Parts: sequence; structure tokens; C-alpha cells
Amino acid sequence: MKVDVLLGLQWGDEGKGKVVDVLTPRYDAVARFQGGPNAGHTLEFEDKKYVLRSIPSGIFQHGQINVIGNGVVLDPVLFREEAEALEKSGIDLRRVLRISKKVHLIAPTHRLLDAANEKAKGGAKIGTTGKGIGPTYTDKISRNGLRLGDVYHNFKEKYSTMRNNHLARLKALNAVPENLEELEEKWLDAVMYMKGFQIVDSEFLIDDLLRQGKSILCEGAQGTLLDIDFGSYPFVTSSNTICAGACSGLGIAPNKIGEVFGIFKAYCTRVGSGPFPTELFDAVGKRIRDLGHEYGAVTGRERRCGWIDLVALRYSIMLNGVTQLIMMKSDVLDDFEEIKACTAYRIGGQETRRFPYSIDEAIEPVYETLPGWKTDMTSMQSEDEFPVEFKNYIDFLERELETPITIVSIGPDRKQTIIRKKH
Ligand code: GDP
Ligand code: IMO
Ligand code: MG
Repeated sequence: MKVDVLLGLQWGDEGKGKVVDVLTPRYDAVARFQGGPNAGHTLEFEDKKYVLRSIPSGIFQHGQINVIGNGVVLDPVLFREEAEALEKSGIDLRRVLRISKKVHLIAPTHRLLDAANEKAKGGAKIGTTGKGIGPTYTDKISRNGLRLGDVYHNFKEKYSTMRNNHLARLKALNAVPENLEELEEKWLDAVMYMKGFQIVDSEFLIDDLLRQGKSILCEGAQGTLLDIDFGSYPFVTSSNTICAGACSGLGIAPNKIGEVFGIFKAYCTRVGSGPFPTELFDAVGKRIRDLGHEYGAVTGRERRCGWIDLVALRYSIMLNGVTQLIMMKSDVLDDFEEIKACTAYRIGGQETRRFPYSIDEAIEPVYETLPGWKTDMTSMQSEDEFPVEFKNYIDFLERELETPITIVSIGPDRKQTIIRKKH
């Protein structure tokens, strides 16, 4: 039995899509377990670039089954857009994709509520992706949600109860748009479109696969520091992005989890509001943003950039039980004279290596400075070619994080991935 999990250890956009695509040939199925179209997972190969939002990143390999699990929230309109574009490029989605009956649906009024809630927060905005994620998970938890499987059970009636409830709230916030009916019509059309896909009891599908000795890779969305329980609350997303989310979001028992791949950038980024202790506001931060093309895959928003934060990474590794680390975007630092890594926080004169309850307060990062490698690594084929300074950076991180780095990414393309030998 084999279920491995790959997830982000920072604030999202670590490069999950790229690595899931690279690892997919090792598995029989790939499954998403939480989040929804707030995600934007980029894959590049054969001079083409794809951005996936709700569909797992395993669809471009050799016909593996791709599962959208019960923990995911789906917007039928965005799903349709994504699916139609993929089908146009030749992917036989209807054959490889399975969607849980239990996914919760994002309705147009959820998106309107997302926007209205943000507006009402004034200066304390979360900076959400505006995709209706928070309101949809709120309805799920408060037991007012609408699930995909409801298309077979009094759908219209259930939808209109939910919609009326939303409308009352939207009216109070003065946020009912004139074109609501038009939005609803398009949405209902897209719900019908979804019926053309394989809508299944995905927990049984996964159990069947495991009983047949098949292996599954679970694909995380967002990142550990955006987790609803352990992230920088309230500047987080509305789901459990940590490894435990793979169990509840797919119906997989914890004792079936094997490897946990924790993925991180050689530096750190964040999009949206909220604290970010190692954020750089100077020319170095701008340089990282420019060299790393740090702009949102979906929203195009500028990503905030800073040095790697080992306090936060240690916390993420602990929460997820990470067994292997994957370092992304190492090439972005190829031309830096020196590289900094935050090894501890200084709070009120006291140094700590523990991630504190609130990272809102004045935190002074304690940095270790390492020499840069000043070498273009983007066309290297093996770790033997790595410059000594980069090897030292890897050794330093492995020591600090007490976990092996088994994969290093040196560019956005599928091919720019170095699988390290066991040390
Ligand atoms: P995800 O949400 O975790 O899948 O990550 P995103 O796709 O949102 O953001 C990662 C970005 O970095 C994408 O534009 C990728 O094409 C790009 N990328 C991934 N790995 C590397 C790498 O090793 N080097 C560089 N330069 N870019 C990378
Ligand atoms: P991937 O899977 C980066 C952030 C938003 C905002 C907060 C809440 O591509 O790594 P939400 O719309 O979820 O209610 O927004 O979470 N956020 C992400 N940041 N990558 C993502 O996904 C994100 N998904 C949500 O910017 O700060
Ligand atoms: Mg992304």
C-alpha cells in the first residue's frame, strides 16, 4: 500500500505543479485533496506552459487516474473553462479524471460574498484570490453547502435555499449585482456540463486502487503557512493544507501515508496580506521578484519576496512529518554574491527557533550569510556539476532542517530537475 503526499511548506507557489508532473510516472494515480481554483499550478514542458487550478497536475503523463477529492471546492464555470482548454490541447480528461460526489460547489453568490467580505474588512483585507473559497468552506462547515452529488438529488431546490440565504447577506452588504441572473444561468449550464465527467465515491475508488496494490500521489495546494489551523491566522486560506488534509480530503487513513514530500523555494514569497518576517523591501527583494518572475499564476499579482525562513520551514516540516525535501527555484539565486538564511527570530530581545503564536509582532530575523555560487545552473544534468558553494548551501539546509533534500529544481521546465543520489 502506498500513498505519498506532496505539499508546500511556505505560503504557496513553491512549484508543486511542476514536481507533481515530474513524479507522476512513479504513480498510478494523482489526487487533489483541498483548496480549489485559488490554486494556480504551473507546468512547463516541450516549450508549452499550462496553469492548472482545480485539475490535478498528473494529467499530462501516461494516463494515470487523476482524482479531485471530497476536500476540494469547485467552481463549475472555472472548471469548465479549464477542462475545455485542456481537451482542446488533446487531453482525454473524461477518461482520466474522477471527481468526488462530495466536493462542495462554489456558486456565483459565494464569489460575491468573498468580495463583499473583503470590502467590509477595509484596511484588514486578507487579499484573497476572490474565488469564493472562504464562503464556500464556511457553508460546508456550517452545514449549508451544496455538493456535486446533489445534482442527482433535488439540486434546484437545494441551490435556491442556499442562494436565498446568500442574497439576504449580500443585500445587507449592498452587494447584489444587476447581472446576477446572467451569472447564475452560466453557472447552472456549467453544472450540467460537469455531469459529463465521472462523478464518483472517490474514497472507495482510492481504497480499490490501494487494494489492487496501486500507488497514489496526493497533490497539495496552497502551503503550510496558509493552513487554517497552523498558518498565519487570519491571513490564511480556509482549508487544512497540511498532510492531515490529505486524509480528510480523500478519505485515506493516516496509516496509509508513506513519503511526505515537502516543497520549498530557495528563498520565500507570499501573495496577499499578512505577516512575512523575512520580507525584503529593498533592491534585493525586487531582484528576486524580477529573476524569479514572481507574479501570481492566476491573478498576476506581484508576489512579496524575501530570504528563506528556516524557523517557519522547521515548523512546516514538523506539522507535516516531511520525509524528503524538494528545493525549487535554486537558479533564481545563481547570480547573488551572498545568500541569507533566517535561522532564528529575535522577539523582544530573546532569540527563538520556534515559530511563535503570532508572527504579527516585531520579529527581527537572525540571519546566517552564505557565499553565493555565481554560476548558471539552468542546464546542469546532475548534482555532480553543482558548484561547491551550492553544495554547501544544500548541506547547510539539510543540517538546519534535519531532513534530506532529494530533488533540486533549476528551472521551470520538466527537464530542469535534478534527482539527487542517496547520501
Ligand atoms: P505552485 O502553485 O506551487 O504549483 O507554483 P506556481 O506555478 O504558482 O509558481 C511557481 C512558478 O515558478 C511557476 O511560474 C513555475 O513555472 C516556476 N518554476 C518552478 N520551478 C522553477 C525553478 O526551479 N526555477 C525557476 N526559475 N522557475 C521555476
Ligand atoms: P497555490 O496552490 C499562493 C492566498 C491568497 C490569500 C489567502 C486566502 O498556487 O500555491 P483564498 O482565496 O484562499 O481565500 O485566499 O491565501 N492563497 C495563495 N497564495 N498560492 C496559492 O495557491 C494560494 N491560494 C490562496 O493570496 O492571501
Ligand atoms: Mg501557484
